[in-house]
Amino acid sequence: MKANASTLGSAQIIDGKATALAIREELKVSAKRLTELGAKPGLAVVLVGEDPASQVYVRNKDRAAEAAGFDVHTIRLPEETTQAKLLAEIHSLNDNPDVHGILVQLPLPKGGDLNERETVRAISPDKDVDGLHPENVARLVMGERGFVPCTPAGCIELLDRYEIPIEGKHAVVIGRSMLVGKPIAQLLLARNATVSMCHSRTADLASMCRQADIIVAAVGVAGLVRGDWIQPGAAVLDVGINRGEDGKLCGDVVFDEVRQRAGALTPVPGGVGPMTIAMLLRNTAISAARAAGVEL
Ligand code: GUN
Repeated sequence: MKANASTLGSAQIIDGKATALAIREELKVSAKRLTELGAKPGLAVVLVGEDPASQVYVRNKDRAAEAAGFDVHTIRLPEETTQAKLLAEIHSLNDNPDVHGILVQLPLPKGGDLNERETVRAISPDKDVDGLHPENVARLVMGERGFVPCTPAGCIELLDRYEIPIEGKHAVVIGRSMLVGKPIAQLLLARNATVSMCHSRTADLASMCRQADIIVAAVGVAGLVRGDWIQPGAAVLDVGINRGEDGKLCGDVVFDEVRQRAGALTPVPGGVGPMTIAMLLRNTAISAARAAGVEL
């Protein structure tokens, strides 16, 4: 993919929005083929409660799945739903052959008896398109076939589509969450990068970053990664989603500084974010293909 012309700095701006749309177009073709084989991809999205941000995320996932020609089963449950009721819903989706992917939007409401860990464990690992079930975490670490969490999968896809080499490179991952930091480190390792895991207790984060060919910033601290932390030409993936002091959405990277030195950089918004939904759809299509015994 070609770089966007940039007048300010030299970094190639990685266009996650355009890349995600291209993948969603590719998935339309896959969905059509699977439908003809009698395996129309089906995605179930479970939303408990009324959290406004979660409602927006769920609506975006539903729309994208429908636009790609998938069946969408949206299950909205009230805030006061019990753990037993939620588990019963998940078991019924596990047993439903029309459902190939199950996603329970997190976080679950606090205050009742809902338990996120138990809920994620209840999802069949073969339908866990979020890649959060311990079985899928283990498969990722062991290099076995499973489902990879969507945001880290999107990061790797961006590196690949922009032809940014991974093998033999030094990747610095900032953040150790189960959703991004830990799985992206495993994916980079599996592609033969040398991976340094950094976090809030890392002694000298700036000097670690200065040794990086690839930086993945996923901590949720606005303005953490500065321009003088960047080795000239490094690729920088900004996974942070924060509200800046001006109220605008921003990442963990000081964009206007980092773009002066990086070789490639993802913006916020429009970088890694849109890739998450594209990867969710891809995981669901992969699941439908596996269930039908065909290659995607
Ligand atoms: N809430 C925020 N991000 C995610 C995600 O990737 N998966 C789920 N299930 N919930 C989320």
